[in-house]
Amino acid sequence: MCQMGNNSLLFKCCITLFIFFHCLLCVICQNCTGPSCGRGAPSPTSPPGGNLTFEDRRIAVVYQVIQDFKKKITEDPQGITKTWVGPNICKGYTGFYCDNPPDNASAVALASIDFNGYNLAAPTLEGFIDRFPDLALFHANSNNFTGIIPSNISKLPYFYELDLSNNDFSGEFPQSVFGIKDLAFLDIRFNGFSGTVPAQIFVQPLEVLFINNNKFLQKLPDNLGNTPVFYLTFANNRFTGPIPPSIGNASETLIEVLFLNNKLSGCLPYEIGLLKEATVFDAGNNLLTGPLPFSLSCLEKIEQLNFAGNLLYGQVPEVVCELGSLLNLSLSDNYFSIIGPTCKKLVDSGVLDLRKNCIHGLPEQRSATECWWFSMYRNHWPCQYPPWYTTCIPCKAPSHPVHGHQHPRPKLGSKRKLLSYAALSRHGL
Ligand SMILES: *[C@@H]1O[C@H](CO)[C@@H](O)[C@H](O)[C@H]1NC(C)=O
Ligand SMILES: *[C@@H]1O[C@H](CO)[C@@H](O)[C@H](O)[C@H]1NC(C)=O
Ligand SMILES: *[C@@H]1O[C@H](CO)[C@@H](O)[C@H](O)[C@H]1NC(C)=O
Ligand SMILES: *[C@@H]1O[C@H](CO)[C@@H](O)[C@H](O)[C@H]1NC(C)=O
Ligand SMILES: *[C@@H]1O[C@H](CO)[C@@H](O)[C@H](O)[C@H]1NC(C)=O
Ligand SMILES: *[C@@H]1O[C@H](CO)[C@@H](O)[C@H](O)[C@H]1NC(C)=O
Ligand SMILES: *[C@@H]1O[C@H](CO)[C@@H](O)[C@H](O)[C@H]1NC(C)=O
Repeated sequence: MCQMGNNSLLFKCCITLFIFFHCLLCVICQNCTGPSCGRGAPSPTSPPGGNLTFEDRRIAVVYQVIQDFKKKITEDPQGITKTWVGPNICKGYTGFYCDNPPDNASAVALASIDFNGYNLAAPTLEGFIDRFPDLALFHANSNNFTGIIPSNISKLPYFYELDLSNNDFSGEFPQSVFGIKDLAFLDIRFNGFSGTVPAQIFVQPLEVLFINNNKFLQKLPDNLGNTPVFYLTFANNRFTGPIPPSIGNASETLIEVLFLNNKLSGCLPYEIGLLKEATVFDAGNNLLTGPLPFSLSCLEKIEQLNFAGNLLYGQVPEVVCELGSLLNLSLSDNYFSIIGPTCKKLVDSGVLDLRKNCIHGLPEQRSATECWWFSMYRNHWPCQYPPWYTTCIPCKAPSHPVHGHQHPRPKLGSKRKLLSYAALSRHGL
């Protein structure tokens, strides 16, 4: 029914009528121009699949969409598309999943597509994901899809998860995602996206935003902290500039954030200490400088705290070493020169890595000459904050347990699966 003719307006009309009037009026729209014309008015038993019988009208409408896309697939090393034959889409087609749509519990609709790891190649997803009226999820990790993300994907009323990770997409950040009202999960890591990440994405009500391993090149947007996401990965791009103080605005929501392997510079804002839900904060391998803010001692839930491979200096605050949930504090490859007894204990227990710094008496430190040169030249990387920023502790009662009464730390090996770190591998989460 409602075969797409040359006129896409007519087709849209058909879709609308189909959805709202259950096709009773569809015949009005019928304007046969295509080769499959001449069957007369549609009925549930003569849908677009010719004489195929589908379990629901909503399945019948997507049959042709799948067949059209099948023709566009240029590589299918696992023979996935061989299963895309006949009317039994819900049970027989690899990668397609049906469910009862939210608007009718007795109907059956195509609700999700999961092509993770199928290595399919196609020049575009246009005319595909945007033509499943009931689609909620599209997951396509590790394929060779390319082209642009269809802009009218935003018209799909139930759509909320888009995973295009590890494909061949390139060009600008996909603008079409801004229109998707209920989008909660956006994963475009491991593609060739370049240019800038529009500030708009940080006001979208997402829960997960993975943009690591692309070629984004820009100063981190100032409104970054307005994002309500729980998991956020900027890693392995070319972001520059300081971590914006607005990060503190994410205090109620941000659980894991990865800035590692970029070109971030400047001092750390004390507002990082406001992230009371954070379990992972990783800004390793950047050009961050200045002292470590004492405010980090407010990160009561932090387990993984990484600033290795930067230009940080001064003392490692004892209050940070007292954090009760810390499993891994990685400060290696910086220019710290002072530690106290609590931090020393953490070094001894393997939680704190301070190799390649400038601390007298610790093994595997930088040479005295290297440390001297750094101290001479460190003013080349000026700190943008006044000195009191370093010692400001913005939480009421920082979690320093009284010495000798420390909670037993979870064992090092007891590392649970962390979603943001899993996103650093190319493959599915
Ligand atoms: C049907 O399609 C033809 C050719 O595309 C067009 O000339 C004609 O106006 C259409 N008829 C209606 C009722 O839309
Ligand atoms: C459709 O019907 C024709 C003639 O009845 C038959 O030859 C053909 O195999 C049918 N096609 C399918 C896909 O069932
Ligand atoms: C719900 O879907 C079923 C199966 O497609 C259909 O028969 C029924 O008319 C629909 N009900 C409503 C209220 O749209
Ligand atoms: C994409 O295609 C290239 C060249 O055919 C191939 O080497 C690569 O493994 C493919 N990637 C995926 C994820 O399938
Ligand atoms: C989006 O556009 C394509 C091609 O113009 C069309 O086939 C499709 O039905 C549209 N999807 C929606 C949800 O409007
Ligand atoms: C952080 O949130 C406050 C209050 O909502 C707002 O006034 C401020 O502009 C936000 N900061 C940034 C940098 O967006
Ligand atoms: C601690 O974190 C650093 C930086 O992420 C990592 O390289 C190291 O392997 C971790 N150590 C342990 C014991 O997990």
